[in-house]
Amino acid sequence: MTLNDRYLNPQVGRIVRTLGFDKTWVGGEGAHLIASSGQHYLDLFGGYGVFAIGRWHPQAVAAVEAVMEARTGNLPQLGVTLLSGVLAEQLLARAPGSVGAMVPANSGTEAVEAAIKVSRAATGRPRILYAEHAFHGLTLGSLSLNGNAEFRDGFGPLLPGCDAVPFGDQDALRRELERGDVAAFVVEPIQGKGVNLPPAGYLQAAQGLCKDAGALLVCDEVQTGLGRTGRFLALEHWGLQPDLICLSKALSGGLVPIGAVLVSRAAFDTVFDGMERAVRHGSTFGGNDLAAAAALATLRVLEEEGLIERAERLGRLLLELTRPLVDRYEVVTDVRGQGLMWAIEMGPPGGRARRSVWKAVERAQPGLFSQLITVPLFHEHRIFCQVAGHRMNVIKALPALVVEESEIRRFAAALEDVVARAEHVPSALARFGLQTGRRMLAGGAQR
Ligand SMILES: Cc1ncc(COP(=O)(O)O)c(C=O)c1O
Repeated sequence: MTLNDRYLNPQVGRIVRTLGFDKTWVGGEGAHLIASSGQHYLDLFGGYGVFAIGRWHPQAVAAVEAVMEARTGNLPQLGVTLLSGVLAEQLLARAPGSVGAMVPANSGTEAVEAAIKVSRAATGRPRILYAEHAFHGLTLGSLSLNGNAEFRDGFGPLLPGCDAVPFGDQDALRRELERGDVAAFVVEPIQGKGVNLPPAGYLQAAQGLCKDAGALLVCDEVQTGLGRTGRFLALEHWGLQPDLICLSKALSGGLVPIGAVLVSRAAFDTVFDGMERAVRHGSTFGGNDLAAAAALATLRVLEEEGLIERAERLGRLLLELTRPLVDRYEVVTDVRGQGLMWAIEMGPPGGRARRSVWKAVERAQPGLFSQLITVPLFHEHRIFCQVAGHRMNVIKALPALVVEESEIRRFAAALEDVVARAEHVPSALARFGLQTGRRMLAGGAQR
């Protein structure tokens, strides 16, 4: 922490200390982080969703070790390697028929940057549409598609031609597309910020509207992909056939940075249409052997261990256990999710006294009430979870798909315990909230 405060990000240090999350993490295993006390904490951050197959999965570790042992002819640059070819083949075999080529990358934001560039170059059009509340990454191109002012403010001017439409609003999308200058609509099938599910029929309609307008549909599956929602790709829930699909996070088992964009053959061939244009997009480390080997192991583990079906089954169980909280507690306004991407939303309680406590806490810092849930979950139940975005009372869980059913049940029971207390002992919590609010800066490590 001393080194962090001196050389890295002291404001993150302040947040972590204020919430009492400043453990010394000495290890990780499956769905858990291990503190120096030896205690296991159920990790519902999942490294922002990278640990779908669990931390340090032996097969993924072995695959990376095998590449190092083999001293492969990695990154020849003007040349090709076997592992990234096999990875492209394996990903495309699991993706819808609308995509037929892969552009390698090293992160989610890089995958989105590639999607923006490919869409513009393939269509010859300038504009990119994105949804309000979207999160696609924090480099300048993907930040230009970010639907949250907290991230954008102060970094402008951002990319011209990027316009937001309300998530779920077909008419707004149609109006923008009708201008005839849209290269692509970039959308998360389920929004990570807030875990917002699309209204029925929306994504299918968006696909049709894009097709009619000659615009490309880009599904950002960086968070929802790789089994998280109970399908290999979330887009399978709606039978989508997008032109581009962005992947990252869980793809390499949380071991090696990775990203990839699956692209329709037609779009790809328009962009890379001659030898002189062969390297007009790329990245030095993209398609490296360590990442590809970890990704191939991840695909194998997902299938051998039945983790995608497991995500669906445990996700259903988690909803069954937690949805009743909406009826039992005034402060719980919604519980939602798909597979093991889950969220609970809180709102003000009824009754003048309690409502005024809520307002006081929220005045100290909007969205602070949810920290009154996450903090006792951490300290009393050893459950590590996150708020789903700035200034929102939504708590989110992205557990490893290998999580035990007993841990899902333990989480649901712990949640009810802290929600019940948050509702019934407002003044003590308000004291905590006001103290915390005064100390905390607005914003934080919320993804
Ligand atoms: C949907 C989505 N797209 C893109 C990104 C950016 O990924 P990265 O942090 O690897 O740049 C994220 C990260 O949270 C994400 O959730």
